[in-house]
Amino acid sequence: MHGGISLQGKVRIQGSKNASLPILAAAVLTEERNKLVDCPKISDVYQMIQLIESMGGRCSWEEDGICLDTADMTPAQMPTEQVRGMRSSICLLGALLARFGHVAMEYPGGCVIGERPIDIHLSALGSLGVEFTQNASGIYGNVSGSLHGAQIDLPIASVGATENILLAAVTAEGITEVNGAAREPEITALCNYLQSCGAKIAGIGTSHLVIEGVEKLHGCTFRIPTDRIAAGTYLLAALATAGDVFLERAPWEQMEAVIRVAKAMGAECQCCEEGLYVQGPGELQQIGYLRTDIYPGFPTDLQSLILPLCVCTQGETVIEETIFENRFRILEPLRRMGAQLEQLDAHCVRVYGGGRLQGCPVEATELRGGAALVVAGLMADGKTTVTGCRFIERGYENICRDLRDLGARIYGS
Ligand code: EPU
Repeated sequence: MHGGISLQGKVRIQGSKNASLPILAAAVLTEERNKLVDCPKISDVYQMIQLIESMGGRCSWEEDGICLDTADMTPAQMPTEQVRGMRSSICLLGALLARFGHVAMEYPGGCVIGERPIDIHLSALGSLGVEFTQNASGIYGNVSGSLHGAQIDLPIASVGATENILLAAVTAEGITEVNGAAREPEITALCNYLQSCGAKIAGIGTSHLVIEGVEKLHGCTFRIPTDRIAAGTYLLAALATAGDVFLERAPWEQMEAVIRVAKAMGAECQCCEEGLYVQGPGELQQIGYLRTDIYPGFPTDLQSLILPLCVCTQGETVIEETIFENRFRILEPLRRMGAQLEQLDAHCVRVYGGGRLQGCPVEATELRGGAALVVAGLMADGKTTVTGCRFIERGYENICRDLRDLGARIYGS
């Protein structure tokens, strides 16, 4: 790609990756036909579909989404490549336990952004009546009798653990109360889907969820909400290039923290029913300090994307990552592009501003870091080549097409 072009125009925001993956797993519970409108066509979704198909589920794409029939599923060995290929395979743990009463799976993989343990998932599901054994090759869970409600106090507001609890609790006997639940919009989306299937959940959107188990769920048609991280990516790309962009269907009500930062950097942002309009300033303003946090704080998934912008503001900015400890793999390629960055410790980076980025060949090694290199390339002088695009394809339907539609000189699939 060749940098230095100001993005202009309109981009339609895709369905949310992190909402669709647990909802696909949840469809396993229904034993019926479901339609997920606006399910994004990304490689993580394809992998989840392959996992469901490997156990006898039937999936077919239609023009506006995907249809799943999970009636004939039976427990079966899941293919290693897909289980280990993404973090979200862990959602199948709760779903399969609820449906079949037992599960055997390898450890999930996903982007290398930290250790990503699953201890909280296992202890929460344990409270609902699952007995786990683990060895080097995987996790084995068994429910003797049936799953039962429990009070669960989460030590960390883990998104994945909250999802697994929901999946296991909606058809468990009795009431499950979760304190310290994650409040990310993707949890709300999962709750809304489950409710459309007949689940009883109170406290949606709060850290206190109360789930009353029902005997059975039924299938439904559900619209996957739009992707706040993809929208945030394009918002920051517009900001990075002094662009003038309309983010069609952007879920701006979930993007408050990002919009606040964009405005502090000089952007003009306007929200309307159809989406979010953003106009980048001629010169980016320094923000000084930014800390990621659980929702509604600044999302960890956009932390890498803010780094190249800080390189081009005046003065220094300290970025503190509080969710994952290995989210700075992007520093090396950014340094190769001319960024001056100092890693202060496992969680903090100081960005020395006042610089310019120079295009060069760089390699993506994880999803959001990869998208950040694309944004860096849009800002850089000259030509940037990003390899490792398979990581980016895990979460973006077609970042090249979208950016090209906005005028970027970017080539690739
Ligand atoms: N954690 C534990 N033990 C557990 C679970 C989590 O210590 O059993 C720790 C993690 O190591 C991490 C923190 O808790 O330090 C938060 O992890 P969480 O479980 O909330 O994250 P996740 O479910 O693994 C999801 C998204 C991530 C997003 C985070 C935070 C999906 C598939 N992934 O991950 O998205 O960054 O929540 O919002 O929903 C991405 O889209 O690129 C991505 C990585």
